[in-house]
Amino acid sequence: MSFEIEKNLDQTYMMPTFGRSDVEFVSGNGMEIAAADGRTYLDFLAGIGVCCLGHAHPAVTAALTRQVGKLLHVSNYFYIEHRGEAAALLSKLANDDMTGAAALADALAARAALGDDAADDARAAADEAVAAAATPAAGEQVWETFWANSGAEANEGAMKLARLWSKRHGNGGNTIVALRGSFHGRTLETVAATMQDWLQDAFRPLPGGFVACTPNDCDELRAIFAANPGQICAVMYEPIQGESGVHPLTPEFMECMEELAHANQALLLADEVQTGVFRSGKPFAFQTYGVTPDIMSLAKGIAGGVPAGAVVAKKEIAETFAPGDHGSTFGGSCLAVAAAEAVLTELVRGRYDERAAEVGAYMREKLAELPHVTEVRGRGLMLGAELDAAAGDAHDVVARALEAGVVINATGATTLRFLPPLICEKADVDKLVAILRQVLGA
Ligand SMILES: Cc1ncc(COP(=O)(O)O)c(C=O)c1O
Repeated sequence: MSFEIEKNLDQTYMMPTFGRSDVEFVSGNGMEIAAADGRTYLDFLAGIGVCCLGHAHPAVTAALTRQVGKLLHVSNYFYIEHRGEAAALLSKLANDDMTGAAALADALAARAALGDDAADDARAAADEAVAAAATPAAGEQVWETFWANSGAEANEGAMKLARLWSKRHGNGGNTIVALRGSFHGRTLETVAATMQDWLQDAFRPLPGGFVACTPNDCDELRAIFAANPGQICAVMYEPIQGESGVHPLTPEFMECMEELAHANQALLLADEVQTGVFRSGKPFAFQTYGVTPDIMSLAKGIAGGVPAGAVVAKKEIAETFAPGDHGSTFGGSCLAVAAAEAVLTELVRGRYDERAAEVGAYMREKLAELPHVTEVRGRGLMLGAELDAAAGDAHDVVARALEAGVVINATGATTLRFLPPLICEKADVDKLVAILRQVLGA
């Protein structure tokens, strides 16, 4: 269908919640996406940090194709393939146990390579290898997963778990401290946790039970705990605030949150929807700080583009949930978990944590050399570049970059944001930087 017809249908029948750029994408391959007119673009946004293995990655395509022909959905009332396997990988990764994760990923890759038509004994041996690699060692911290469909939904589940844990095992409080400038999603509860007036104002009254704290202000956090004794069940934070402009929390504030939360029987709830799944240079951004949350929420890259989210919590906290406390029709569907298993397996085996750290450091250096760039923030392949006033509005820079053949994004009038696929190489960064140099001018 022609671009004009598609655009007209969209404008006639779609709710105008997004301002769209004047391009229709129809296919992709690796770092590139192709438009309906045949033009190709270098993708440094990856569907807002989602397509972590780029477009049409063979391992993801194979896993999805196999699953589509087998079974799409049966509900959470039944056991299915891949759901527990992907959760086991998340548990190893939450412990930053790359050796254990690699053993499991290798076993999963070997089993996937056998296909469904393998001889019974070969299949049984491959299953045994997966089971052995997935079995927790004595004393290993196990993390349990609830599969959701999106980041907002994962955060809803994480907040419900924190409140339930507090009621059953903690101080009984139900207040969640959230940070100013945060972004946690678009449902009413996650808007209530999103401490930005422009995102909240139109939707008041919002659900209660939230208190705002300024990021990196330990004194304010201490005062909040002092003013609300026995009432706070969790502190919720993005290790690097993404939507408000790629602002990492300081290591001192991380430690302060940990100390205060645990001294007050409250939980640490890390929203790793944007920072997680290898983007920061570690499996999860909290590992770049060394402060481990009790619960984390994931989405975006977790299934490489298939809608999926996850609440991942330490077993002793996760087991507060009993049947009936939480649920989802679609969460953890056969398709989503087949994709998640394939994506996580590939990320582990390709050591995309190290690649994101290395290519990210290079990109950071190159972006900092560009005209009009005053600061580069972020970690790994989650980067923001601050522009000076002479650069003009960052949204116009994004539009000119698109015109010149590269997809990036702005989080405000002065910040460019980069969330490329983790397959991004230094040569791709060179291409991006050459285009931006041209777009930004002298
Ligand atoms: C940190 C964070 N949390 C939650 C969300 C919401 O995720 P979703 O759009 O999948 O609901 C986002 C989306 O950008 C995010 O960046």
